[in-house]
Amino acid sequence: MIGDFPKAIRWENGELWLLDQTRLPHDVHYEKQQSAEQLYASIHALKVRGAPAIGIAAAYGLCVVLAPHTARPLPEFIAELHRQADYINSSRPTAVNLQWALQRLRQLSDNYSGDSNGLWRRLVREAEAIHAEDEALCRGIGEQALPLIREGCGVMTHCNAGALATGGIGTATAPLYLAHEQGISFRVYANETRPLLQGSRLTSWELHCAGIDVTLLTDNMAAQTMASGAIDLVIVGTDRVVANGDVANKIGTLGVAILARHYGIPFYVACPSSTIDLSTADGSLIPIEQRDSNEVRQFGEHRATLAEIKTLNPAFDVTPAGLVSGIITEKGLIEPPFASGLAALFSN
Ligand code: MRU
Repeated sequence: MIGDFPKAIRWENGELWLLDQTRLPHDVHYEKQQSAEQLYASIHALKVRGAPAIGIAAAYGLCVVLAPHTARPLPEFIAELHRQADYINSSRPTAVNLQWALQRLRQLSDNYSGDSNGLWRRLVREAEAIHAEDEALCRGIGEQALPLIREGCGVMTHCNAGALATGGIGTATAPLYLAHEQGISFRVYANETRPLLQGSRLTSWELHCAGIDVTLLTDNMAAQTMASGAIDLVIVGTDRVVANGDVANKIGTLGVAILARHYGIPFYVACPSSTIDLSTADGSLIPIEQRDSNEVRQFGEHRATLAEIKTLNPAFDVTPAGLVSGIITEKGLIEPPFASGLAALFSN
């Protein structure tokens, strides 16, 4: 379906290779990750990005970082495991998949009684499981959301919740890939996603490579495009869905949701269950990453204003549950009220 499209994460013979997404779409370049500091920098600089992909990269990266410590006594190895997991976890705050994946690895040390090397091999198996599961979760989301993609429809998306952001066919993009595979014809409108242009550099590129009809918009064209009648539904990904159904996603998503409500267009959020955080009550409690001013002052490498101009640069915003028409997970579509639907997802 997406053929030979480059994978965001490659795990080969105990080596972790990350596609440097800051160089896309012009340059397909993989970097081998060899230290915790390098991995931290890769996640922080968005060389690997997107909530599920960050979690997978962190899990493998922790294994890479711990490999030289397997000859140490178990208590020292476990202390190192927690120290490095804390450090990697601090690379980005908003996507809950990062802490979720690291927590799955940490838990393996609870009540473990073998040697350090045995624990390390368990960590590797768990990281591989997280990766394989994510691929299956993406497909599950695609199957659940496929009925939303009707012949001739127009779909708007924001940021990149695609193959590049996951271990599979993406979250928001999963039903698009499946619909395309089934011969359904539809149009996708990808918002460019200032300031780091995930929509233009990543989403439009990966959909175009798959042969999907995609049109790139600057973010400020979303309202007019909806007003023109071209959009039948919006599907976005998310970095964290909390207990009441509030949703954190790339900055600009909130504006798209407000516009969709104004124009009576359904607004869907697609995510695997690994992105749902029931321990956080509502969106006001989600940590929002604040990024470097120069990302706003510059357009890529090009200066767009004076160096002394003040900026704001929150990387994410929170869309209140009331603006969300449905949350699509691998287990099905959850409709409002979300609190009970989300809780039920985890009680089964
Ligand atoms: O800053 P980014 O590029 O990591 O932001 C990514 C997003 O906001 C995605 O929409 C989200 O992580 C979902 S990815 C399936």
